[in-house]
Amino acid sequence: MAAALYGDDGFFRRERPADHFRTSVSASPVFATAIAQLVAGVDKALGHPDVLTVVDVGAGRGELLSQVFTLLGRDSRVRPVAVERAERPDGLDPGIEWRADLPDEFAGLLIATEWLDNVPLDVAVLDQDGVARYLLDDGELGEPLDSADAHWVERWWPLRVPGDVAEIGLPRVQAWADAVGRVTAGLAVAVDYGHTMADRRPTLTGFRDGREVEPRFDGSTDITAHVAVDALGVPVLKQREALAALGVDGARPPLELATTDPAGYVRALSRASQAAELLAEDGLGDHWWAVRTVTIEWTPWRLSQSWTR
Ligand SMILES: C[S@@+](CC[C@H](N)C(=O)[O-])C[C@H]1O[C@@H](n2cnc3c(N)ncnc32)[C@H](O)[C@@H]1O
Repeated sequence: MAAALYGDDGFFRRERPADHFRTSVSASPVFATAIAQLVAGVDKALGHPDVLTVVDVGAGRGELLSQVFTLLGRDSRVRPVAVERAERPDGLDPGIEWRADLPDEFAGLLIATEWLDNVPLDVAVLDQDGVARYLLDDGELGEPLDSADAHWVERWWPLRVPGDVAEIGLPRVQAWADAVGRVTAGLAVAVDYGHTMADRRPTLTGFRDGREVEPRFDGSTDITAHVAVDALGVPVLKQREALAALGVDGARPPLELATTDPAGYVRALSRASQAAELLAEDGLGDHWWAVRTVTIEWTPWRLSQSWTR
């Protein structure tokens, strides 16, 4: 999976994510508006520091940061940083820093939309003797799990009968912990599709040209698996709750507006339908937001650790 996605000729080295699947970022500019609100809240909570860093991990082609930086009026205190394995795209706002690795430390907001689902993982299968083994890409079973993976599976995705499959989420937990550990003050948010113990299920799949396809390990498809969000060790909430608290509202505008201000009505209707897509049941609204505050008390949400169940 690592080689297929990020090797020299890997899928994400060549392909633009928005050409192959729809994320909250690519779905509508309403998402960037909400993230700009979040940045403003973090800025206030940090007491309007001289430098407010906004790091987007797995930034795609910088679409989210470009919009957020514009919405914030290119505030000279804001340092937008895109962390991305792909090359810097032509024409990107020169005010946006582009790098392959996370900065060592920073204060501000760390945002990662649909990053963790693309952090490579291994798949475990319980064999006929009750031993959990790695699934190889030719479909055969390989070595028994090492102790770290075995421990993770036992805690977060127990295998009960021969043939049971688990997607070993430990690399996501480690990637998230590493990213959060670099935030000296502020907020870290990962937005992704996921599951919890209540609805754990194998999800590994591929995407290409807007369609779900059999995952291929030759760099020709995206390869993705849902994130075991409860294992991240931080409060989680659904995107529809997270965005509602940031003012995203999918309600249609009142019909009277159509007579008093037809153009305004059409604009409001378009905004509402874009918002509705981000909030949709069985759609983007079901995505999880994993949230970690660092030194600040503020978030737009009333977070409860019990949401990690
Ligand atoms: C599914 S796309 C999401 C793009 C964008 N965030 C969005 O929501 O539309 C995942 C992106 O994460 C990038 N990525 C994955 N792991 C990464 C890592 N460790 N460092 C930098 N970029 C990474 C991939 O190259 C890809 O562009």
